[in-house]
Amino acid sequence: MDLFNVYPLYDIEPVKAQGSYVWDATGQKYLDLYGGHAVISIGHTHPHYVQKLTEQLNKIGFYSNSVQIPIQTELAEKLGKLSGYEDYHLFLINSGAEANENALKLASFYNGRKKIIAFKKSFHGRTAGAVAATDNPAIAAPINPTDHVHFIPFNDIEALENVMNEEVCAIIVEGIQGVGGINVTSGEFLQKARELCDKFGSVLIVDSVQCGYGRSGKFFSHQHYDVQPDLITTAKGMGNGFPIGGLLIHPKFKAIHGMLGTTFGGNHLACAAGIAVLDVMKQENLVENAAVVGNYLMDNVKGLPGVKEVRGRGLMIGIETEEPVEVVRKKLLFEHHIFTGYAGKHTLRLLPSLALTKTEVDIFLEAFSKIVKAENVGV
Ligand SMILES: Cc1ncc(COP(=O)(O)O)c(C=O)c1O
Repeated sequence: MDLFNVYPLYDIEPVKAQGSYVWDATGQKYLDLYGGHAVISIGHTHPHYVQKLTEQLNKIGFYSNSVQIPIQTELAEKLGKLSGYEDYHLFLINSGAEANENALKLASFYNGRKKIIAFKKSFHGRTAGAVAATDNPAIAAPINPTDHVHFIPFNDIEALENVMNEEVCAIIVEGIQGVGGINVTSGEFLQKARELCDKFGSVLIVDSVQCGYGRSGKFFSHQHYDVQPDLITTAKGMGNGFPIGGLLIHPKFKAIHGMLGTTFGGNHLACAAGIAVLDVMKQENLVENAAVVGNYLMDNVKGLPGVKEVRGRGLMIGIETEEPVEVVRKKLLFEHHIFTGYAGKHTLRLLPSLALTKTEVDIFLEAFSKIVKAENVGV
């Protein structure tokens, strides 16, 4: 059987990884500034993470959500403490799309409505509701688009005011748009969204799948402002590579048996991974590190020739380049052995481990400045 060929692949096979580095099958070492797409939060194969997962695997790896699983409660308590959302409730799933799918459902169960406000350039995942709220017709199958979702311009307060009324079930917005190009949601906009949701009884969902879990230099990126969403979705960095997603739910939502459910969500191994991530984030002050090292990177990249704009917060960084980003990315990967991501044709996207050091940033800066200088003079 062949694989269903949906991914364009680089001809590189990582076989080993540690911290911010991966090694391929030929022994070549790479600096990983992509983190497997924002997933590696505490660094590859962190010893505490490996130990916690190994211990759990030797005890019990899985049982269904029909029995007591205290490790779920431990994860919820630790997440509540570290994120500052101790009074919220946690529903565990396996991915970002599922987190958003369940957020949209819960919002609709809550107020009985179906109109969703989403934003231009948004990305919320590929399941039915999540992809319907994603502004990319190319990834929506004919069954996905729905009249329930209305797209308005991002960060546009006037457009939001014009569309809000008693029919709106929920606003779903990324704290920082990732796929859309690393566009930071403004505090003013989020505050207005909060105010309008309160006025009309709508639900504010902040998708923190990519910008969450410490990446922005706060636990959730909206915590740079004084705004509390009703529902917060998370995944990616939550398990440092083990599939896990979470939906943080304001206490005003009442749980009814059977209203949400999943087979794999909250399994023992996923929870062990999630707990190990939170332990390391706390012990190693990784949220603070993301802020400090991210600022260092952004400050030093701004003003380099060939750089048009630098956007982002903490270690979620978009560098808009004059040259097509694919050229820059390939040179970084094949000539300097540095993994990066992209968002659109001209934005280099950096989503490294939150344990990245300034020394590792310097390695990137040296390589990147050589490339953009050379591209700029047409060499
Ligand atoms: C903001 C955001 N939401 C949702 C998702 C979907 O997450 P997953 O691929 O885990 O379903 C992504 C994935 O890139 C994302 O960036």
